[in-house]
Amino acid sequence: MADGLEGVVAAETVLSHVDGLGGRLVIRGLDVGEIACGLGYEAVAGLLLDGFFDALPRGHALVTALGAARIDVFERVERHVADAAALPPIEGLRTLVARLPDGDDLDTALRLIAAPAVITPALVRAADREAPIAPDPAIGHAADMLRMLGRPADAARASALDAYLGVVSDHGLNASTFAARVVASTRAGLTSATVAGLSALKGPLHGGAPGPVIEMLDGIGSPDRAEAWLEAALDRGERLMGFGHRIYRVRDPRADALKRVVARLARESGGTGRLAFAERVEAAALAVLRRRKPDRPLDTNVEFYTALLLESLGFPPAAFTCVFAAGRVAGWVAHAREQTASGRLIRPQSRYVGPMPDLAA
Ligand code: COA
Repeated sequence: MADGLEGVVAAETVLSHVDGLGGRLVIRGLDVGEIACGLGYEAVAGLLLDGFFDALPRGHALVTALGAARIDVFERVERHVADAAALPPIEGLRTLVARLPDGDDLDTALRLIAAPAVITPALVRAADREAPIAPDPAIGHAADMLRMLGRPADAARASALDAYLGVVSDHGLNASTFAARVVASTRAGLTSATVAGLSALKGPLHGGAPGPVIEMLDGIGSPDRAEAWLEAALDRGERLMGFGHRIYRVRDPRADALKRVVARLARESGGTGRLAFAERVEAAALAVLRRRKPDRPLDTNVEFYTALLLESLGFPPAAFTCVFAAGRVAGWVAHAREQTASGRLIRPQSRYVGPMPDLAA
């Protein structure tokens, strides 16, 4: 039996391909590096949904439709945001997404893709006792997400977030996508599949990692302390967040794509100090991991530079997983549709190793 289903192929997909040995990610025929270079989140979502809905809008019509979906989500959740903000942000997001109507149609799909971008800023603001800001359907998805956060949404920052959302939009059969496909395979609906995806994404071994990356950087404080801090963390049996991957045996290609985005933003804002510090910590972590785990190739994964990017865009670390969800949700919805279109109920078997009734008694 494959521990953690490692190496098991559980679905065929046209959506994305993760090459763990070559360090390559292809999303619908495009290398992740191309996706990071200004394609735009709406275009990436359009690529992912292509072929799964008859009336899928294209080009600017999709930008408009997603803008309208943001307004729709805002009107549905606004009055519930204050209650949900008492929870950690990812749980608040899951609660509010679960309130949205379920279904399998295009309106449901667009509403779900819009939802984390609307709900996340509202939850962050509510935690600071600030009222939510209504969406502006006339601007791009990423720019509007920053605007709803109440942070500057200038072109450089909007394009950095846009690149991030596209880079993390899909990634093979990762845990949250698999969870979404399992739920979709029961014909439960796209909202149910998305709630399953959010629940799986929350864990620190998956989308919960980037917040702790900031705690690690803050705990280390200065480059000369990095090695000792990291050794002590491993001595306590902890894992170094932002390193290691189930599939990649080399550097995660998304790490480099996002590092370039962080570097561009840092140059434009004139503050490269944090990036230089993070690079020193990364180098120390890779050296320590090579020394301590010589048999397991452990390299930088997507979460390390995600943390730096989302920090510089003004998202609090507690909300990083929600921003990840704002990108990944297009992948979940596309995979859920692909599963219902072509797949059977996902129902594997278990091998019973517990006691049997004593027939002689
Ligand atoms: N820090 C320290 N050790 C790590 C490690 C990390 N980040 N990632 C893996 N390892 C070690 C494990 O302790 C284990 O060592 P052992 O065999 O001596 O016990 C070995 O590498 C294999 O780990 P395993 O748990 O089997 O790998 P996996 O494929 O199940 O794990 C992750 C993949 C992503 C869950 C794992 O690398 C991890 O926990 N990383 C940190 C969290 C993170 O950044 N998650 C975001 C992923 S994109």
